Amino acid sequence: MIGRRAFLGSTLALAACDRFAAAEPTPADDLPPLKIAPFPIGACARSNHPDDPAWRALALRNLDQITAEWEMKMEAIVGDDGTLSFTGADKLAAFARDNDLRLHGHALIWYSQDNPFFRGLPEARFGAEYDGYIAAVAGRYRGQAVSWDVVNEPISEDGSGLRDCLWSQRLGQDGYMIRAFEQTRAADPDAVLFLNDYNLENLPAKGATFLKTVERLLKAGAPIGGIGTQSHLDIEIPAGQIRDWMRDAGSLGLPIHVSELDASLRRDGPVDLRTPAQRREQQVARVRELAEAFMALPERQRFDFSVWGLRDTDSWLREGERDDGKDSPLPFDAAGRPNPMAGAMVNAFS
Ligand code: G3I
Repeated sequence: MIGRRAFLGSTLALAACDRFAAAEPTPADDLPPLKIAPFPIGACARSNHPDDPAWRALALRNLDQITAEWEMKMEAIVGDDGTLSFTGADKLAAFARDNDLRLHGHALIWYSQDNPFFRGLPEARFGAEYDGYIAAVAGRYRGQAVSWDVVNEPISEDGSGLRDCLWSQRLGQDGYMIRAFEQTRAADPDAVLFLNDYNLENLPAKGATFLKTVERLLKAGAPIGGIGTQSHLDIEIPAGQIRDWMRDAGSLGLPIHVSELDASLRRDGPVDLRTPAQRREQQVARVRELAEAFMALPERQRFDFSVWGLRDTDSWLREGERDDGKDSPLPFDAAGRPNPMAGAMVNAFS
């Protein structure tokens, strides 16, 4: 069965890839669903997505798991007076439950999500409110969320150390992370608890600092259950860098979560002489490398492989001033037809 499926998948995917070389979208039914993979496939979702029949059909065809793109973060839950609101989060949790999709919780503690309520707390109350927030959110989805990004993006931009943030200022650089993992474990004894960050493949120094941080926190007793690599890929990094990262990350023996894959075709900066085909080729090569590196992990370490959106037009990279209307960072185009990276993923996963 595997042989036939693999043959079918690889043949179709290669054919699709070839057709993709000309960046011609493939009819959606030409390519097997992404969840042909032998591990869960996920994507982020916004609470209005399930109301879109096209998104819904694409999600149910391709996904085993969803992550709330923003509705389970402090910015959506915590009011300036500290009251908690779960409307968007509950809607996505209900969609996951009603459609037998796993729910990945994102993100309990994040440097960029501090807010007036926590900033305004007196020292004497800060720890209790911090613990109470984690208990309220992780406890609410206990029994449904299979996992949590307990701490998001703790490593500094250049990878030289840890970020300074409200949480580290109040509770200590490692202290806020250890406490967050301990409080989440208390609120949900069964969820897999992740430390999650980005540019771990793109910047080897950052990837190395991240892994050292995981090891140090584990030694300090933090119940870290997995490594989350967001994989917002820089498609111009050297071949092999992604594979090396995945090998190093896998060496810790923990489950690995590719948590937010997208692969922008655009480059910051004024000049980009690459042709569309060259950028597409770079994108497919890096996505294929990531997918193959993930496939090469032991089965027990392949937690989930998630993209940060299904259709190009769902991407954060297509919002506001970023959007030149041409970026194609995700597996499907605006009409839900497979982009070249979908073929690379299916081919690697088959
Ligand atoms: O939709 C609401 C709208 O109803 C409301 O009126 C408006 C008021 O601010 O907010 C809108 O929500 C925005 C939301 O995206 C949906 O568009 C939020 O303001 C905005 O902050 C939010 O941005 C998200 C961002 O994280 C911050 O939470 C992006 O969608 C999301 O793609 C991005 O995802 C992050 C990951 O969590 C962590 N890794 C990096 C990744 C990309 O930045």
